[in-house]
Amino acid sequence: MRNYLIAPSILSADFARLGADVSAVLDAGADMVHFDVMDNHYVPNLTAGPLVCQALREFGIRAPIDVHLMVKPVDSIIPAFAKAGATYITFHPEASHDVGRTLQLIRDHGCKTGLVFSPSIPLGIANQFMDELDMILIMSVNPGFGGQDFIPHTLDKVREARSFIDSRSRHIRLEIDGGVKTDNIRAIAQAGADTFVAGSAIFSSDSYKKTIENFRAEISRAQ
Ligand code: DX5
Ligand code: ZN
Repeated sequence: MRNYLIAPSILSADFARLGADVSAVLDAGADMVHFDVMDNHYVPNLTAGPLVCQALREFGIRAPIDVHLMVKPVDSIIPAFAKAGATYITFHPEASHDVGRTLQLIRDHGCKTGLVFSPSIPLGIANQFMDELDMILIMSVNPGFGGQDFIPHTLDKVREARSFIDSRSRHIRLEIDGGVKTDNIRAIAQAGADTFVAGSAIFSSDSYKKTIENFRAEISRAQ
């Protein structure tokens, strides 16, 4: 049985009371905080930087923080996120000048690494860096906004990534991000994902606890 993690995306949280909202979602049973960083350059939206990550740590958030960088350039922001308490730092390979160097920079700063694949970007490069990766993140929407519909063909990429990962002995998380809901999470788990980002499905629900419980019940039905 895989160790499945639920990672609510702060993008849909209440930014005016972020610490309290993130605490509430963790108390409701979430495992990890997904922290979307957008720069209005690599993607057409602007969110939060290292100061906000640090503020969450200072507020008392102890859960792993999974920083998803949708920024270009990538390298210059990595030391600040490491210092701010990031656990994972993931980035889009096409936003980096040198993927190997960026992965090394993340490790040198004591964080776990990950590569993120937008729906139109093939997985090929991941194969080359399997020994340097702690996570592969498959995007199931185009990056930039919460609340978009899940793109079904990305499930094929989840299956492909699962077979890459299973051919290695190192443990690499397989995360999915975008449009994850109670009615598709079972199929996503079945395709091989073990880490589920969900923004709008959790934060716009009446009960975070009930939604997370429903997610786990659906995941447990995956074969
Ligand atoms: C999109 C972000 C996602 C987004 C997911 O660029 O990377 O993490 O917040 O939001 P939902 O779950 O609403 O699709
Ligand atoms: Zn994300």
